[in-house]
Amino acid sequence: MCQCLHCTGPYSQISQGLDMVIFWGSQSGRAEVLAKSLASELQNRFGMKVLVADLDDYDHLHLAELNERQIIGFILATYGEGDPPDNTNVFWSTAHELQEKGIKLNNMCYVVFGLGNSKYRQYNRVAESINSTFQKLGASRIGEMGKGDDANGSTEEDFASWKKDISHTLEETLNLQVQNQEYQPAFTITEIDDIGEDAVFLGEPHSSLLRNGTKSKWGDLTAPNVIPIARSRILWQSGQRHCIDIDFDLGRQRLLKYSTGDHLAVWPSNPESEVQSLLCLLGLESKRSTIVKISTASSTSGIKIPVPSPTTIEALFRHYLEICAPISRDALMQLSNFAPSETAAENLRRISDDTTTLKTEILSPHLTFSGILRLVADDQPWNIPLSFLLESVKGRQPRYYSISSSAVVQPRCVSITAVVDTGPQASGTLNHCFGLTTGLLSDLCHAHMSKDCSSDATPLAYSLSGPRDILEGGKIFGRIRRSTFKLPPKASTGVILIGTGTGVAPFRGFLQERVRMKEIGKEVGKTLLFMGFRHPDEDFLYADELKQCQLALGEGIFKIHTAFSREVSSKKVYVQDRLQESAAEVLELLESDHRSSIYICGAASMARDVSFCLANIRMSATGASDEEAAQWLTELRRSARYLEDVWG
Ligand code: 2AM
Repeated sequence: MCQCLHCTGPYSQISQGLDMVIFWGSQSGRAEVLAKSLASELQNRFGMKVLVADLDDYDHLHLAELNERQIIGFILATYGEGDPPDNTNVFWSTAHELQEKGIKLNNMCYVVFGLGNSKYRQYNRVAESINSTFQKLGASRIGEMGKGDDANGSTEEDFASWKKDISHTLEETLNLQVQNQEYQPAFTITEIDDIGEDAVFLGEPHSSLLRNGTKSKWGDLTAPNVIPIARSRILWQSGQRHCIDIDFDLGRQRLLKYSTGDHLAVWPSNPESEVQSLLCLLGLESKRSTIVKISTASSTSGIKIPVPSPTTIEALFRHYLEICAPISRDALMQLSNFAPSETAAENLRRISDDTTTLKTEILSPHLTFSGILRLVADDQPWNIPLSFLLESVKGRQPRYYSISSSAVVQPRCVSITAVVDTGPQASGTLNHCFGLTTGLLSDLCHAHMSKDCSSDATPLAYSLSGPRDILEGGKIFGRIRRSTFKLPPKASTGVILIGTGTGVAPFRGFLQERVRMKEIGKEVGKTLLFMGFRHPDEDFLYADELKQCQLALGEGIFKIHTAFSREVSSKKVYVQDRLQESAAEVLELLESDHRSSIYICGAASMARDVSFCLANIRMSATGASDEEAAQWLTELRRSARYLEDVWG
């Protein structure tokens, strides 16, 4: 049987001998973690032979080759405005192609769970749409479709209860027998020493493990590059928050090209304190440099190895596993099997049993993996199989930052703007982490500035040299990700830019570009900028630069509207208030110039509220009904005149 996960061959190759294939479609790796969790539940509970697979690894035109005893699982995330994740694009079009070709999937049985965020308009669109397409193709869904909602942070909870129901339904439908429930490691980890150091992965991102590999439509651009810092500065500092602005030098790397509005992907690593703390709790300090080879434990489990192999224990903890990220409720429950005492096990069961406790004790204080171990068992040593860590801790994922510079003005240098929040001081000795990658970038920024200013270096939490010292001297593993958040092709087209906090970042790039257009004699269209911050003396970004842009473009062309939510304690002022005040001008621009566009960047909740505000403005001005106003917005979106770059 072919176990090669990278072949795109027919389904029959993966289907022989398997009871189930669970495909995941995800950008952040979360769906992959949930898919693995369902697989291990079904393997351990019923002895089913389950394969977990990346949707991008198979040619789904062969779905009809499965037999009726083989179940397909889909764990599918939805992003932004109902978009499929990168690794789901091909499957997404194949499903529709199957429908067009009139192929019937009467043999196919499937289960489906969607990850989404109800703050976005098209909540769980990907799972919904795939479900309805497969229904039309004649496939049978087993159990209900599950939906996880990130808006109220209940994805884990939603998944846990769906998993319980689906496991019960599968037991009944397939007449499965419950087997011994002892933990079965999915991976075999072997120590090796007869290997040249060059063959060992010490933390470099491994291109075959990147979500898109080289199959992406962006070709080689997906491979991470080593990118040095050119300049860095702190824009503001207030309490536990500060804002950094870093320029990265793209040098002569031909494939590293960006255009205004794109994103920079940054690969993080974990701080030394967390690596050390976990090594110590697991009794692995003396094995820090031990080289290990990781393979799947049984020939049929088929789970993709989530990290490069061979590697070292240190590289696993520092680079390849997200030991600072929240772990799933499910993993927390399973962790109780390895607890050093009954009290610790009971503590874990108590926490994972109740959402509020989970939130207050683990999620809100942002406890890391070692923080959790300490919370429930103080400093007692744990004996956790390494395989369990590989199964339950997410593999490293890059983080995406909106680029805040213009590719026309500085084509070989990208800027990003990020707020670093260090959170409240850790209580006692519990380890916590507020923002892994921004923490790393902040350290890089400080190290770079102190080198420039020869002031005392700030103590750093992160090792900034990277594997084999590749990142020495202030560099990151990064790449450019294309976005559709682009200025209209003609500078003369009007634009309405709405951003809060660091959501103003891409607009800085847009404005640099419009100023350059004016400088080279092009006509620049009306530009309305609505910005929301907390306080003019706290987090107001790029005030001087924007003033300069206004001088260059003229106040009649470029208008700036600021909303400060915490300037006066009696009333929060939001960008929506400023939009209301300028309602006539906003509508006039959209109506008089039928190409003018709206851009929104910042938190998803703000973007949703802004869209309600725009619909209200339209209703008040034209007497349109709710439906007509919603239709107007849909039409603007459809014609790419309403663009969003949102998060959270
Ligand atoms: P607040 O935190 O004081 O409520 C950047 O985060 C700015 O966006 C802050 O001023 C923040 O205000 C504001 N903000 C938060 N939620 C918002 C929403 N739903 N709509 C508009 N602005 C919002």
